[in-house]
Amino acid sequence: MSERLRTSLGPLTLANPFVNASGTYGYGVEYASFVDVARLGGVSVKGISLLPRPGNSPPRTCETSAGMLNSIGLANIGIDVFLAETLPQLRELGVTVIVNTFATSIEDFVELAARFDNETGIAALELNISCPNVHAGGMHFGVSGAAAAEVTGAVRAVTDLPLMVKLSPEAGDIGEVARGVESAGADMISMINTIRGMVIDVDRRRPMLGQKMGGMSGPAIKPLGVRMVYEVFQQVSIPIIGMGGIASLRDALEYLMAGATAVQVGTANYSEPGISLRLADELEAWCSERDLTVTDLVGCAQGD
Ligand SMILES: Cc1cc2nc3c(=O)[nH]c(=O)nc-3n(C[C@H](O)[C@H](O)[C@H](O)COP(=O)(O)O)c2cc1C
Repeated sequence: MSERLRTSLGPLTLANPFVNASGTYGYGVEYASFVDVARLGGVSVKGISLLPRPGNSPPRTCETSAGMLNSIGLANIGIDVFLAETLPQLRELGVTVIVNTFATSIEDFVELAARFDNETGIAALELNISCPNVHAGGMHFGVSGAAAAEVTGAVRAVTDLPLMVKLSPEAGDIGEVARGVESAGADMISMINTIRGMVIDVDRRRPMLGQKMGGMSGPAIKPLGVRMVYEVFQQVSIPIIGMGGIASLRDALEYLMAGATAVQVGTANYSEPGISLRLADELEAWCSERDLTVTDLVGCAQGD
């Protein structure tokens, strides 16, 4: 991939703007035998907590007409196993690793960040303050500017890693949350996480998912994500990583033109695990035909 695709997000530079989104690509290592994971802009690993979590009771996913619902409940291997077994493999593979973290208290977010700060091979830390699928904590931090700023500031104080904070589309005023995390020292914003939805199993006359509600992702949420990136771009000066429903080059271009400096691809990985590399190649050809770089595209749809 050429220099055209290189994209700079403050302290983090990516070889291309395509990162695979947390929770939709395992820990990245699972795909190494059939996708050249080192060529990806990056992989945001499944959200890591201090202790391993089994997650919610099944069914935890179901398809919808334009995407899916999930209520995984942040099932993960926990930081000890991740550091001992997974991170060394990711280093070996040469993956640009974004460590997505999840906690239900500020103290636990801080402890996670302090432990990751001592490790090599981590390109950035992504704070998930926006998960709709856990009862305690989670999205609580992501729906108010003050709470989001508090957790961001506490984490900022213990790590020099590039810090990305992931925002929820469920915030009443996402711009306020974005400004809050910027003022507290975030280097970047990633957005959007899923938004709660429900599917009813009409035969059983009950909600389809074990937890009744789940986070909606996939093409159905793309216009919402693009609108929010467009709005947040006008309110902060830190870079934005846009996501929500990206499944084609045009989708990625929309996010870049709205104001994203990079993008994450989530649900589309389930139908095509190599999609991010295909889109990166398509973006390279598109830019080359027009003699443009990715940087030329960022926010170019803003203005009158
Ligand atoms: C099955 C599943 C699990 C997810 N797990 C996480 C997670 O652990 N941490 C997180 O920040 N986001 C998680 N997400 C949200 C995605 O990273 C992404 O924000 C969202 O799905 C929107 O992008 P998409 O429409 O391309 O999937 C998950 C999404 C799905 C579908």
